[in-house]
Amino acid sequence: MKSPKNQADKSKAPKHVAIIMDGNGRWAYARNLPRIEGHRRGAEAVKRTLKIAKEYNIPFITLYAFSVENWNRPKKEVDALMDLLDNFLTDQLKELLKREIRFRVIGRYEELPPHIQKRLKKTEKATAHFTEHTLGLALNYGSRTEIVDALRAVTKAAKIGDLNIEDFDYNDLRSYLHTGDMPDPDLIIRTSGESRLSNFLLLQSAYAEIHITSVLWPDFGEAEFKIAIKDYYDRERRYGKTSCKLHNI
Ligand code: IPE
Ligand code: IPE
Ligand code: MG
Repeated sequence: MKSPKNQADKSKAPKHVAIIMDGNGRWAYARNLPRIEGHRRGAEAVKRTLKIAKEYNIPFITLYAFSVENWNRPKKEVDALMDLLDNFLTDQLKELLKREIRFRVIGRYEELPPHIQKRLKKTEKATAHFTEHTLGLALNYGSRTEIVDALRAVTKAAKIGDLNIEDFDYNDLRSYLHTGDMPDPDLIIRTSGESRLSNFLLLQSAYAEIHITSVLWPDFGEAEFKIAIKDYYDRERRYGKTSCKLHNI
């Protein structure tokens, strides 16, 4: 297993890294290429990243691939993104099986084109038995719709007496989120220099460390991943407590 630090840091190792893959359009624009070429190169960066995450033994990785707001882009771009996704899933299934990675969709996937849904279901089913590593792909994902969906399901369950709202806490709520069977992210990486979450894992990232790099997503690779992980190890996660380095009050 690769690690930018020594074994002593094992207990601090991130269990869940989530990435906002941004900057495909700007990458293409800088080269006078169509935006879709940026997305194509972005798909290559996804393949690289999956390989690296497995080598670094990160149990959960979630990639933000398409937001609920991304439907507002030109139809030509949305269609091209769906085609890319279809091709990506087709050629990555054997890689997921070879590397024993469970595949999970995070998002309202019943609103995606039927042939994509079919492909997603097939990939999820074929990899469902893997337990060590999970790839979450955020597709048609938005935190606000996710929370609304969760609240609807909670209300329904409370109405039929399946849950007691008096004892209800965050852990119960999180089980209704798309990420219900994943731990909350330890580290969120955003490429392309933007300092915002763009409706991504808003509840789950309450105590996530955030690493922003100016590198555009198609250029993301092992060097950048290593910098992000090193940055994460250098943080002191206090969760509202006082610093363990400061003893005097
Ligand atoms: C990220 O790159 C990919 C998606 C959001 C689908 P962008 O397409 O947002 O690239 P920029 O932000 O325009 O450079
Ligand atoms: C966030 O990127 C969504 C994905 C990476 C899929 P956007 O490019 O859509 O975000 P904004 O519009 O810059 O906030
Ligand atoms: Mg963008």
